[in-house]
Amino acid sequence: MFLPLGVLMERCLLNKQIILGVTGGIAAYKSADLVRRLREAGACVRVVMTENAKQFITPLTMQAVSGNPVHDDLFDLKAEAAMGHIELGRWADVILIAPSSADCMARLLRGEANDLLTTLCLVTKAPIALAPAMNQGMWKNKTTQENAQALQKKGIHIFGPGEGSQACGDTGFGRMLEPVELVAKVASLFETGRLSGKRIIITAGPTHEPIDPVRFITNGSSGKMGYAIAEAAIAAGAQVTLISGPVHLETPPHVNKIAVTTAQEMFDAAMSRIRECDIFFSVAAVGDYRSKVIAPQKIAKTASTFMLELERTPDIAATVAALPERPFIVGFAAETENVLGNAKKKLMNKKLDMIVANEVVTGMGGDDNAVTVLWKDEQVEFSKMEKRKLARKLIELVVVQYSCERNEVLDSAVR
Ligand code: C5P
Repeated sequence: MFLPLGVLMERCLLNKQIILGVTGGIAAYKSADLVRRLREAGACVRVVMTENAKQFITPLTMQAVSGNPVHDDLFDLKAEAAMGHIELGRWADVILIAPSSADCMARLLRGEANDLLTTLCLVTKAPIALAPAMNQGMWKNKTTQENAQALQKKGIHIFGPGEGSQACGDTGFGRMLEPVELVAKVASLFETGRLSGKRIIITAGPTHEPIDPVRFITNGSSGKMGYAIAEAAIAAGAQVTLISGPVHLETPPHVNKIAVTTAQEMFDAAMSRIRECDIFFSVAAVGDYRSKVIAPQKIAKTASTFMLELERTPDIAATVAALPERPFIVGFAAETENVLGNAKKKLMNKKLDMIVANEVVTGMGGDDNAVTVLWKDEQVEFSKMEKRKLARKLIELVVVQYSCERNEVLDSAVR
């Protein structure tokens, strides 16, 4: 299954945090269009400009198209108070420098940190990509060529340059790639395509177990982790069904969302689709008990105490695991004590393939989480990071484990 370019871009760039570095060169006039297109594909863009870039395009233009303040000074007190350069380097999912001058390439290679952009490139752990743009003679120059090769050896991506007529009147290699080409190349940095053709079901959010028409029992759950996994699975090319309890989150594009309220509804929605499922992520904080009787009218507060008889709800993950032809199952365990011990018990008792364990205080409600993933006799820890980043790492891990278990090579199917 091959993904068309437009779908690939939209799947891979949704909510990605991109630093666009702009250096001095006439191609900087195209950077505004590049920002617009990255944003159209769902990315959030922050622009960092060198002093020379400002000779070619104004910070005001870049601010207007990106919707964010432009960063241009390593020593700007105001900017450091809002988002310091270390934080900005950490914020980025990718740094794209477009256009990248020959000077910028040389400075990056030497590891210089004499302006904000080069400093960020040293700070970040995110991939870095350069779109060189310069006169054809400068690009052909032996030193520039050696620099480009050395940067690639260090893992920096070089996009282009393209060939054609240049602003100076020359013709040859040195033109910055067109914004649409650059957007596709940045998207491909995130695309593994390794879940292409795979059908994934994710349960997410809490359930509401009614007591009467206005009251219900629930669990604290924002649904953010499940939705982030849906987004990451889409980026990996999967077909995703998200069975979600009541949450206040936007459904990621291309996801087939089924809204449910109770544990029983979540169970029914999952079981009716489970035969068409390769990987099941049980992320939901399903209510373990429900009221045995649901009062048809609002219960009046007359008595000083009030007894509620509760009964167990069906365990969705365990029921899926008991099926003769079961999908690969990833469970979640949010614990307040003995996190790893309890998670291990759930992994075994429910017969899951993998379990993602976290302490309740770390994960609940916020945008970040720190987890330990356990399977068989193995475990791997992920330190505190954004749930969206964590979701991508979990997908990578599941791809590897799924491939081992099912003896199936999941390779990129994207062209
Ligand atoms: O609630 P508990 O800690 O047992 O949850 C562990 C795992 O089991 C989670 O993956 C959760 O989504 C799943 N679960 C379920 N159905 C339930 C209760 C939990 O699928 N009724």
